[in-house]
Formats: sequence, C-alpha cells, structure tokens
Amino acid sequence: MKVIHVSAECYPAAKVGGLADVVGALPKYQTNLGYEAAVVMPYYENKYGKSSKHTTDYQTVVDLAENNYKATVYKTDNSLKEFGYHLYQVHIENLLDREEVYGYEDDTERFIAFQKVVLDWILQFAQVPKIIHCHDHHTGLIPFMLTQCTKYIPIRGIPTVFTIHNAQYQGEFSFEKLAYLPEYNLEQSGILEWDYSINSMAAAIKACWKYTTVSPNYMNELPYAATGLDWLFDTERDKSVGILNGIDTDVWNPSSDKMIAKNYTVRTVESGKQANKALLCEKFNLDPKKPLVAFIGRLVYQKGADIMAGIFDRALDANDINGLVLGSGDPHAEFLLNELKEKYPGRYNTYIGYNEELSHLIYSGADFLIMPSRFEPCGLNQLYALRYGTIPVVRTTGGLKDTVKDIGEKGGFGIRHEHVSVDDVALAITRANKLYNDTAEFKRIRKEIMKIDNSWENSAQEYIELYNLIAQ
Ligand code: ADP
Ligand code: GLC
Repeated sequence: MKVIHVSAECYPAAKVGGLADVVGALPKYQTNLGYEAAVVMPYYENKYGKSSKHTTDYQTVVDLAENNYKATVYKTDNSLKEFGYHLYQVHIENLLDREEVYGYEDDTERFIAFQKVVLDWILQFAQVPKIIHCHDHHTGLIPFMLTQCTKYIPIRGIPTVFTIHNAQYQGEFSFEKLAYLPEYNLEQSGILEWDYSINSMAAAIKACWKYTTVSPNYMNELPYAATGLDWLFDTERDKSVGILNGIDTDVWNPSSDKMIAKNYTVRTVESGKQANKALLCEKFNLDPKKPLVAFIGRLVYQKGADIMAGIFDRALDANDINGLVLGSGDPHAEFLLNELKEKYPGRYNTYIGYNEELSHLIYSGADFLIMPSRFEPCGLNQLYALRYGTIPVVRTTGGLKDTVKDIGEKGGFGIRHEHVSVDDVALAITRANKLYNDTAEFKRIRKEIMKIDNSWENSAQEYIELYNLIAQ
C-alpha cells in the first residue's frame, strides 16, 4: 500500500459520525486514482466486528506501564472487493474489544495501545507505506512516537499527514500517564505538552509533516476558534492545507439507495421525493401536504442541540410546516425534543437514537434539512441533503460556508443564517417555508442541487498531491 489511514472509525465497520464516512470512502477513491490505500482501525465487539471474517496478519503484546495486553492485527477478508481497499482491524484483548467506539473511562489507554500496535505492526513491514495518514486525536500520538521514540527509529522517515476532523476533541491526559509511551528523549516532552497536559492533537500538529482540515474555511477559522489551541494553529499554519470532504456517491445515491422507499433521479425527483416523504410522514404521523423540515445529527452543543427544541417550537408556531428530528446525545435536549411531540401532534416528531437507514429515508423524504451548528469543520449532512434534493438551511460557519450558497445570492441554492439563536434559525425556516410556497422556484432549486458534484474524486486527488509533496 502507498498510504495507510489510521482511524478510530470507518464506515461500515464502526460509525459515530462523519469521520467514519470520510475514512470509509476516501481510500477507495484514492485507490481508484491509482494511489493504493489501506485502513487500520480498532477491532470493536460490535455487529460488524463479530460478523467479519479475517485472517491474522500480526501478533504482539502491547504494554501500558506494568500491564500487558495481547494484540492481533486482522486482515479483513474481502474488504478490497467490498470497500475498495484493504481493511485491517487491531484486536487488543480487554481493551479495544468492546461494543462502543468511545465513552469508556480508559479511552486514553485504549487508543494509546492502539497507536502503539499500529506502529509495531508497520515496523515489521518488508516494505513500508509512503505515507501514514492519521485522523483526529485518537491517532495524534503517532506522528510524535514515530519521530521521537527510539523503538521506531527504523521507520522514522515515513511522512505523516494529520487530518483534523474536529479540533474541539483533543485527547488530553495527564503527564502521570507518560509511562504508557515508549521510551524517548525526555527533553522533547514539550512536543507533547499543551496547557500542562499531554495533548494528543497539539502533539500531532507539532510533530506531523502536514496537517489538514476538512474544509478550507475551517482552517481559516481555527486560529480564532477558541479551541485552546488557537495560538498553535496560527504559528503552524504554514504546514496546513484545507481540503474539502467529499461524499461517497456509491453509498449516497438516490437512484440506487436500497434504504429508501423509492429511487429517483433529477428527472424523477418530484415523484421520488413524494413517495419517500409519504412513507416518512406515515411512519411519524406527519402531514405530507406540508413542507417537512428535518434535523439529523449528534445532539451536542456543536450542533445547536441545546436550542433545537426551541427552534422547532418557534418555527412550528410561526409556520404551517412539519418538523422531524433524528439524533441522540444530550439527555436534556432529548427530553425537550420528546416533550415537543405533545405540543404539535401530527406536525412534529422525534426519533431518539442512531439509525442509518432512517437517515437515508429522511435525506430523501424531507424538503429542508437544518444545521444550526456553532462550528462545523465540514459537515456531510448538507452534502447528502443536496444530493437527495433536500434544501439545506445552515449557519454560515466552517465547511457549511464553503458548500452552501444562500438563495439571496446569484446562483444560490440554500438558506444561510448568521447566528445560532432560536430567532435566527426560526427566521431561516420561515424563509424556507416561503420558498416552498413559491412552487416553481422550489422545484427548480431542488433539481439544481441534485446536480452539484460533491463527490470525493477532486478531494482524493488533492490529498494525493499533498502526499506527493512530502513522500520520497
Ligand atoms: P459529525 O461528524 O460532526 O457528527 P457530519 O455532518 O460530518 O457530522 O456527519 C454526520 C454523519 O452521521 C452523517 O452521515 C449523518 O447522516 C450521520 N448521523 C448523525 N446522527 C445520526 C443518527 N442519529 N442516525 C443516523 N445517522 C446519523
Ligand atoms: C467531524 C466534524 C464534521 C466533519 C466530520 C468528517 O466530526 O464535526 O464537520 O464533516 O468530522 O470530517
């Protein structure tokens, strides 16, 4: 392989959010472009892990201070055929092999062990990859260990690329856990340090060869984004590049998607969306004659979860529309969204949980998709919405700003708002409702957005060009 992607998530093996979609698709597009890519991720004891067939590629014992864990790298059968690249899964007994990706008390230990096994595995390759591409903080210690730890001197020259999918999560932990890392010259500890802790993301930014953000605009925002690393992002800016995420058009394709009620193309969008909307409205007791405004996502502060119920309450009160939310996260937000169902029976519904199939039905059946994000490194939902002819209503931030143009501008096709407030988002929804009632214009835009090309092809090529700058 030429590049190995290291990630905690990869669709369909394990998905929490967009990271999985990116790592699940980018290597396929790179391989198709002639740059052979592979993925290495943790083995989780989830539905995919339990049913996947694999052979053993490598075995070792990984230590975390005085504790030792048996580790095996699996090569997944048929992954090249099924996903378009080789998938390797790292099984670490009693550490990684659990159902969920994150959320355990010992996540620090789990991901340090994962990163060590990945490097131990690469260390014994007959032919090493040209590039190691790390994604988010769970893999952020790799550039540091590779360049600083004595053990990895033989592979020290492999260039690393680090992609920031979300700079809010940084993988900080106390220097008391320093003994988990392999031996290095302690005078170099400053590379690990940020704000008196070990900070995996900061260490990655300092030690990698190049880092990228998942949209150009997010890269511009980072030096002012109040992540705590603003100064670092400012000083290291010269080695950063913003590369916009794409979408996997094999998975996200309304004309072949098996998870929706009726397939459609630009030509058949009216009847197609109508059929999907009818099913959605039937399932959730909504009125198919009214516009359907939906939200899909993690119910966290980033996504505006704290004001989500307030937004729908105000928007439903002011407009004759339906509302539907699919998501899970903050328990209080979940409670308020559930409560709202009683206030607007027949016009509003909530589905609390994670449901991949339902998300596809919503992209295909909704008329508008809202994303009132406080920040959004790229955002994939708006790209899926566009492809399914669903008009995005987004806050002007991060990758949303790069990918959605307001209908007030020349060539505009979406609705944008500036603030994350109930007033501002509800007003944007009122604009959406007006657009819906301007039937000809609404139908025209719906067709136009389906034609926008947000596929991975261009961005996969941009990554390859970046690799070529630094690889021998
Ligand atoms: P993030 O990675 O910050 O969560 P993105 O917009 O990049 O945001 O990607 C989110 C991905 O997760 C999309 O594929 C979206 O459809 C999916 N998703 C989020 N929440 C849910 C849910 N509750 N059920 C199904 N899919 C979800
Ligand atoms: C992160 C970001 C999201 C981005 C995704 C994939 O989870 O929150 O904006 O689209 O990663 O890069």
